[in-house]
Amino acid sequence: MDAKKIIDEATAVIFDLDGVLVDTAVFHYQAWKRLAHQFDFDFTEVENEQLKGVSRTDSLNLILKWANKDIPAQEKEQLASSKNTWYLELVEEMKEGDVLPGTIELLNYLKETGKKIALGSASKNAVRILEKTGIRDYFDAIVDGNAVSRSKPDPEVFLKAAAFVGVEPVACVVLEDAQAGIEAAKAANMRVVAVDKSRTLTDYDSRVEDLGEILISEY
Ligand code: BG6
Ligand code: MG
Repeated sequence: MDAKKIIDEATAVIFDLDGVLVDTAVFHYQAWKRLAHQFDFDFTEVENEQLKGVSRTDSLNLILKWANKDIPAQEKEQLASSKNTWYLELVEEMKEGDVLPGTIELLNYLKETGKKIALGSASKNAVRILEKTGIRDYFDAIVDGNAVSRSKPDPEVFLKAAAFVGVEPVACVVLEDAQAGIEAAKAANMRVVAVDKSRTLTDYDSRVEDLGEILISEY
């Protein structure tokens, strides 16, 4: 189905952050790769794909499992903290307007057409990134990794976002670049548009290469 039609039919649009609005998915990958290198684990894009949408702690646990490393909880906290420091060094370079193609045009369109706009992200750094790139004020609600206790594919993050903007889940559409996020949206009974250049995702209602493709449609 056409992505623009799905959005036009919705009352609220819930955005994932990393890899949908901003190009930070690559920063996460670089920071995890640097960490994995410390214990000689060859972390590639194949493994990285499985970490998209997954919380920092759950991501670290997966990497340690793949690397066959069993370490105490305190050391895990240090590793997660190092990864986040490296990640934030890359985020610090971001400037106003550093968003993925089509982001501003779509956000303006949603405002003009009276949609509720929400963020549904696993990241604990979400507000910082929205502020740095200058798009925070578009959002009626922000639900991030600080507000949820269960990672995608659990629907908690999207259900909370819908509740914050006062819209029934069936009238929400989620924009996602991660399989875990698509599953979370479906579990929340929402429609989902996949933002997926590599054509690796499944089970979505519509797929676009990037947000810039959505408004071109005249369906
Ligand atoms: C998600 C990313 O948006 O946020 C994951 O797709 C990341 O890769 C997760 O692990 C948590 O992010 P942060 O910024 O809290 O470490
Ligand atoms: Mg993402």
